[in-house]
Amino acid sequence: MNELRYFLSEKGLIIICGKGGVGKTTFSALYALFSSSLGIKTFVTSIDPAHHLGNVLGVRLGHEPTLVMDNLYANEVDIDLLIKEYIDRTVKAIRNVYTEIQVFNFDRYIEMLKESPGVEEDALFSYLMELRKNDYPVTIVDTPATSITTRVLKLPWLQSLWLDKLIDLRSKIIGYKEVIESISQGRKIKIRDAMLEELIRMHGEVEEYKSLMMDPNKTKLIFVVTAEELPILELKRFVNAMGRVNVKIQGIVLNKYVDNESNNKRLNQLRGEYREIPIIIVPYSENVIGVENLMKLLNKIRVVW
Ligand SMILES: Nc1ncnc2c1ncn2[C@@H]1O[C@H](COP(=O)(O)OP(=O)(O)O)[C@@H](O)[C@H]1O
Ligand SMILES: [Mg+2]
Repeated sequence: MNELRYFLSEKGLIIICGKGGVGKTTFSALYALFSSSLGIKTFVTSIDPAHHLGNVLGVRLGHEPTLVMDNLYANEVDIDLLIKEYIDRTVKAIRNVYTEIQVFNFDRYIEMLKESPGVEEDALFSYLMELRKNDYPVTIVDTPATSITTRVLKLPWLQSLWLDKLIDLRSKIIGYKEVIESISQGRKIKIRDAMLEELIRMHGEVEEYKSLMMDPNKTKLIFVVTAEELPILELKRFVNAMGRVNVKIQGIVLNKYVDNESNNKRLNQLRGEYREIPIIIVPYSENVIGVENLMKLLNKIRVVW
């Protein structure tokens, strides 16, 4: 069990991913118990709208972090609240930068923003980045289904593409404005544009997020599977999808492990395919609800390299 220390790093986010039902929430709780039992102030946060973290830990949780036991805090994020906060922040930023926008119907624009595709991913990603500012040395994130999580985690790469295009477009517009102004005033005019400055600032921020995601000391992705075909196929897709943006998976959890032929075959398959990734073996256990049962299971976990 002490081999689990390998996945700890100061101010690191540990993000637990995987197919539905494989044991993400259970492992998040297990790892949080491990970390807090070392005396490290630990926060485990569930961003899956279908919340189970409270049930697994045997406590009632809400949006605000609750002290579960010594050094262990937990919450279940209210996604609607996150989206609302995210939109409020975005609206404020737009109002600050772009006063002309009041020309057209701003309120209708806000309504549109609430319903626009991707806003949930945006809000979740922004929540993940905010987590870095909290004062817990270790934060563990229990995630929803792999498809949503992949979109959330890859968001800065998508945003970076968009921002490149927008900066290019805005620079051109400002360039034309400068030419026209310079001709009409008969001298060289340089225009300062708040919108362009904001886009460049956002670009810098997104680049910073990308490097945070790529730094294994700051972000550790752990993927949970069971000894079954589909969860392992999903692992492969995830490794490939994140690999395309140079983000590596730091650990694979083989959950609900029983020492039989089919499980060992899967274990060997994983070891063969992912030689650089340590495998955390969590045995099957009849009772995985509540701190006491989880602590017992924690003692049976082993890591193989
Ligand atoms: N090691 C384990 N042994 C036995 N049952 C487990 C184990 N891990 C998880 N489970 C059970 O499997 C189900 C799914 O686990 P859960 O952690 O909620 O998965 P996820 O969060 O990935 O959807 C739950 O009923 C849980 O109690
Ligand atoms: Mg879950």
